[in-house]
Amino acid sequence: MGKRILVIGQGGREHALIWKLNQSPGIDKLYAAPGNPGIAALAECIDIQAEQSEQLLKWAQQNAIDLTIVGPEIPLMEGIVDKFTDAGLKIFGPSAAAARLEGSKIFAKNLFKKYGIPTAQFEVFDNFDAARAFAYELVKEGKPVVIKADGLAAGKGVVIASTWQEADQALNSMMKDRSFGAAGDRVIIEEFLRGEEVSFFVLSDGKNFIPLIAAQDHKQIFDDDMGPNTGGMGAYVNPPVFTRELETQAIEKVIRPVIAAMEAEGCTYKGVLYAGLMITDEGPKVLEFNARFGDPETQVVMPMIKGDLLPLLEASVNGELENHRAEMESGNCVCVVLASQGYPGPYEKGQLIEGLEDLAADTIAFHAGTRLEDGKLYTNGGRVLAVACRGADIKEARNKAYDEVKKINFAGMHYRTDIARKALRRG
Ligand code: AMP
Ligand code: GLY
Repeated sequence: MGKRILVIGQGGREHALIWKLNQSPGIDKLYAAPGNPGIAALAECIDIQAEQSEQLLKWAQQNAIDLTIVGPEIPLMEGIVDKFTDAGLKIFGPSAAAARLEGSKIFAKNLFKKYGIPTAQFEVFDNFDAARAFAYELVKEGKPVVIKADGLAAGKGVVIASTWQEADQALNSMMKDRSFGAAGDRVIIEEFLRGEEVSFFVLSDGKNFIPLIAAQDHKQIFDDDMGPNTGGMGAYVNPPVFTRELETQAIEKVIRPVIAAMEAEGCTYKGVLYAGLMITDEGPKVLEFNARFGDPETQVVMPMIKGDLLPLLEASVNGELENHRAEMESGNCVCVVLASQGYPGPYEKGQLIEGLEDLAADTIAFHAGTRLEDGKLYTNGGRVLAVACRGADIKEARNKAYDEVKKINFAGMHYRTDIARKALRRG
C-alpha cells in the first residue's frame, strides 16, 4: 500500500518538496500543515501551524502518517523530531540537540574550533565593554568586523560593520537594547571573509552522508547585492565558483568532519545539512550551517533531483544512506523570487496576482506568500512566488525564467534582474 506523508511548513521550500514528492510512486497521500494555495493543488492542507508540535503529533498518530518531513527551523529547534521519535513515529530532520548547529552560532563556532573545521576567526563575548574593545581594535586596523547575535534572529542578527560607529551601534543594539531579546546576550565578533557564497546540501543519516547539489542564493533585495538582506531573492544550481575540486575540499574538510564531530559530541546529526560556505582564496570556509533545506534554494534543487526523493529521505531517518546515492539532472535550474513592494520592510498584502495561467507547461511557480479567495489569487506575504525554469545551461534556464516572470503581474511586484548573472560572467 502507498505511504501517507506529511510535510510541515507553508513556504516556497515546502511547495518545492511537495512538488517533488508528488512524483514519488510509493506515495498514496500527501498532506501539508498548514500549506499554501500552491501546495493545496498537490496535497491536502491541514489547519495546524508548524510550531504546534503537540497537535501535529496527535494528528499524525490519528491519521497513520508513515513519514513527516519538517521544512522550517523553529519546530526543529523546539524538538519536534524528538517528540515524534519518542512516540515511535518516523520524522525527517535533526533532533533539537543536533539542530543547535543552526540554532546557536556559539555552539557551532566552538565545534568548528574544537574539530579544526575551516571558518572565520572569532571571539565570543557576554561582556559589552570587552566586545566593544575587541571590535574597536579590529576596525582601527581597517578590517570590517562581523557581529552576530548568538541565537536565532530571523536572519537579522548579523551586522557587517566597516566603521567604528556601525560596530558600536550594532553592539549597543544587541547587548544593551536587547533588540533580539536573549539572542543578543552573547555575541560573536568575527573576521570578515571575502568571496562568493555557496549553499551546499547533503543528506545525513547520522554516520553516512550523500551530497545532493550546491546552489547560490541572492540575499540582498536589489540588483548587484545592494540594499538590506532578505530571505533570498532567487537561486540557481551548480554555481561555477564551486568547482569539483572545491566540492571535494568541502566534503573532506567540512561535511565529513562535522557529521563525525556531531556524533562524537553525542548529538548525532540526521536530516539535511545545509552548509553556507564562503569560497575564499584559501578554499571553502563555513559561514553557518542550517538544519533544514534552504529557501529559495530548494525551489531549484528539487527540479534537479533525478528519480525518487522519498527513499533518500527514508534512508536518512532509518540510517541506511550507505546504500543510496542521489543523481542529478543535467543542465541548470534558475528561480526568480517575486516580492511585495517594501519587502523586507513593511509591505501591503492583498494585491491581485495575474498571469499564472499563461506560464509555459514546464515552468513551476512555487507559492510562498499567496492567498486564494473566490478562485482568485492574492499576495499574502513579502516573498510571494518563486518562478523556476530548467534549461540546458545557466543561460538558457535564466532567459526562460525571466521571460516567464514577465507574464506575471501584481501591484508593487518587485524582483531582481540579475539572478545567476555572476555565473554567466564567470562561465
Ligand atoms: P550567517 O547567518 O552567519 O550565515 O550570516 C548571514 C550572512 O552574513 C551570510 O550569508 C553572509 O552573507 C554574511 N556573513 C556572515 N559572516 C560573514 C563573514 N565572516 N564574512 C563575510 N560575510 C559574512
Ligand atoms: N536561502 C537562505 C536560507 O534558507 O537560509
